[in-house]
Amino acid sequence: MLKRIGVVTSGGDAPGMNAAIRAVVRTAYPKGLQVYGFLRGYEGLINNSFMRLDPRAVGGIIHLGGTILRTIRCPEFRTRKGIKKAAETLEKNRIDGLVVIGGNGSFRGAYALSKQTDTAIVGVPATIDNDVYGTEETIGFDTAVNTAVSEIDKIRDTAVSHERVFIVEVMGRKRGFLALTVGLTVGAENILVPELGFNADEICNDILESIKKGKRSSIIVAAEGVKGTRKLAKQIHKRTGCEVRLTVLGHVQRGGHPTARSRMLACLFGEKAVETLLNKEEDKIICINRNQLTTLSLKETVKHEKPLNTELLELAKRLAV
Ligand code: F6P
Repeated sequence: MLKRIGVVTSGGDAPGMNAAIRAVVRTAYPKGLQVYGFLRGYEGLINNSFMRLDPRAVGGIIHLGGTILRTIRCPEFRTRKGIKKAAETLEKNRIDGLVVIGGNGSFRGAYALSKQTDTAIVGVPATIDNDVYGTEETIGFDTAVNTAVSEIDKIRDTAVSHERVFIVEVMGRKRGFLALTVGLTVGAENILVPELGFNADEICNDILESIKKGKRSSIIVAAEGVKGTRKLAKQIHKRTGCEVRLTVLGHVQRGGHPTARSRMLACLFGEKAVETLLNKEEDKIICINRNQLTTLSLKETVKHEKPLNTELLELAKRLAV
C-alpha cells in the first residue's frame, strides 16, 4: 500500500514547478500519504536530503517561478554509483512512489533509477523547451513563450524605428519548439530551428524582397541550437546593407510568475501524478494531448524524439509578408 511519496524537481527550472509541487502535496495529503520533498534535484536523493511537505508548507507558492525544492543538473546521477545511492535513499525512507518534475534529462535519469528500485516513479513534464515526447505541452512552456514574446515586441519597436534587422535568439536546447511558437506569435519574418537549419541566401533574398515592398525592418527568431547566427548577421549586412543586431534573450525566459496556462497544467499534472501512483501504475509520465490527460511509459518517452510541427513554419512564412 502507498504510504510515503517523494517529490523532486530536476534539471532546468520551469515556471509552474512550484504549482506542481503544491498540487502533488495537496492531492497526496488528504489520501493519508506523507510527502518527502528531495532537495537540489537528484542530489537530494543521493545525499538523503529532504524536507517534509504538508499542505501548509506549500502555501503561497502557486504564483512563484523557480522551485522551492531547488534544482541542479547532477552529474553524479549519471553514474551507476549515484543511481545506486539514490535507490538506497528511497529504500531507507521507505518511499513507495516518487514524482519527478522535470524534462528529458530528468526522465532519462528516472528511467535509469526505475531499473534499480521498487519505488514506483511518475514523471511530470516541466521544461520551457516543450520537447518531451508524448505530450503536446509541458509546464513552463507557455510562460517562457509569453516572456519571449513580450521582450520581442519591445525589440520590434526599436527595429522599426531604426529600420534594422534583429536576430533574436531564444532557448530550447537542441530543439525548435520555443522558437517556432515565439516566432509565429511575434510575426517574425524568419524562424530558424535546429531541425531544419537555414539558408543564408534565402534569408537575404527575403529581406531584399521585403525592402522592395516597403518593409524596412525585420525580426528573425532563432533557436539557440541553430549554429552560425553571428556569421548570418554579417552576411545579411553585407548583402542587404541593413544594420543587423543580435539579441540573446537567455535565462530571462526561465523565470517569472507562471502564466495561468502553466499553473493549470501544473495543477492537472500534479494531481494526475498522485492518482497514477495510487492506481499502482508505475514508471510513467503524465501527458496532455487534445486536452485529455494520459500516461505514457518512461521507456517510450526517453526512446523517442518529439516531432516538430513544421507546418507552423509555413504558416508563419505566409503571414509575415
Ligand atoms: O532545458 C531548459 C534550458 O533552459 C534550455 O533551453 C537551455 O539550453 C538550458 O536549459 C540551459 O541550461 P543551464 O541553465 O544549465 O545553462
